[in-house]
Amino acid sequence: MIISIIAAMSEDRVIGANGRLPWNIPADLARFKSITMGHAVLMGRKTYQSIGHPLEGRKNIVLTRTLSKIEGCQVARSLREGIAAVEGDEEIFICGGEEIFREALPICQRIYLTIVHGSYQGDIYFPELPGCFVESHREENPDASPPTSFMVLEKADRIQPGADAAELRQKGLEAVNRHLYFLARCCFQQALTLEESAETSSDYAFCLVKSSGDSQAAQALAETALQRDPENLRILLNVGRVQILAGAKERGLDTLRKGVQLGGGEEFLTELTRCGTRNDRPIKSLPRSHPLNRYLGLLMHRIDPPKRQ
Ligand SMILES: NC(=O)c1ccc[n+]([C@@H]2O[C@H](COP(=O)([O-])OP(=O)(O)OC[C@H]3O[C@@H](n4cnc5c(N)ncnc54)[C@H](OP(=O)(O)O)[C@@H]3O)[C@@H](O)[C@H]2O)c1
Repeated sequence: MIISIIAAMSEDRVIGANGRLPWNIPADLARFKSITMGHAVLMGRKTYQSIGHPLEGRKNIVLTRTLSKIEGCQVARSLREGIAAVEGDEEIFICGGEEIFREALPICQRIYLTIVHGSYQGDIYFPELPGCFVESHREENPDASPPTSFMVLEKADRIQPGADAAELRQKGLEAVNRHLYFLARCCFQQALTLEESAETSSDYAFCLVKSSGDSQAAQALAETALQRDPENLRILLNVGRVQILAGAKERGLDTLRKGVQLGGGEEFLTELTRCGTRNDRPIKSLPRSHPLNRYLGLLMHRIDPPKRQ
């Protein structure tokens, strides 16, 4: 599970004043809602009281040592207990205030941070950021009132110092499995400085595009890797995904179909399904995931791949 912090602070780190937010920025509230919707949100009792009600569409966890029950929320006695309550979720959002941010910073992997440009009076502050957080995405809104910067920061210090290329690659693959694309990108990038590899290069390209990097550069990099090793299934999968993400959908689908022809399995079909290009299941009375349908589906795909739409 990814532990993320989501916060908005002024240039001088102010986040609260007299128990409330020091500003009213509808675009930032909308960003907060779209990022956290469907996930668990964890907050301190004072932040909860300043909002005044549970946030809809999200599991609300409130940290408190004094209250035993809050309508519509789960109460937790410690940060650890609050996080354990959603073990198995993809991502949990720590929503403040200051006390909770301070405690969560050492264990969080990602920070969705809004910088509100300007100076604000306040009594609650965002803690000093440790140097291990690296900016992975930034969107400037200079014409908004007040102007804001929407940023995403990722923790990048968990790359083993002194690791060799194989260890870094392994760490990168583990990070991909956990959807930590920025960390994976750093691992693959570092592995490539130690050892040239078309496969690692294609993994790097996939993570580059997934972590808001330059998608055109990622596509060029991935396609060069494929030229060097044209029948490598992992590279074909990465190239297909990168092409689709970079907007070259037909090219990406052709790459994925070629992968299936060469023996690629479920991962290729999952990507093709995601793009809505799969045939009907061979035995309609059985679910798509049934081993018979999986086997027959792959076989039919290899004998007669679907045509371009
Ligand atoms: N700009 C932003 O992004 C942002 C985000 C959130 C909040 N805020 C602002 O921040 C202010 C509130 O923040 P705050 O720092 O004063 O309070 P807070 O962190 O929201 O809440 C503090 C309370 O949480 C409980 N608590 C803290 N640590 C705990 C732990 N480890 N285990 C169990 N309970 C724990 C305690 O509740 P009990 O006293 O009940 O034990 C404590 O009094 C408001 O002004 C709000 O508007 C701003």
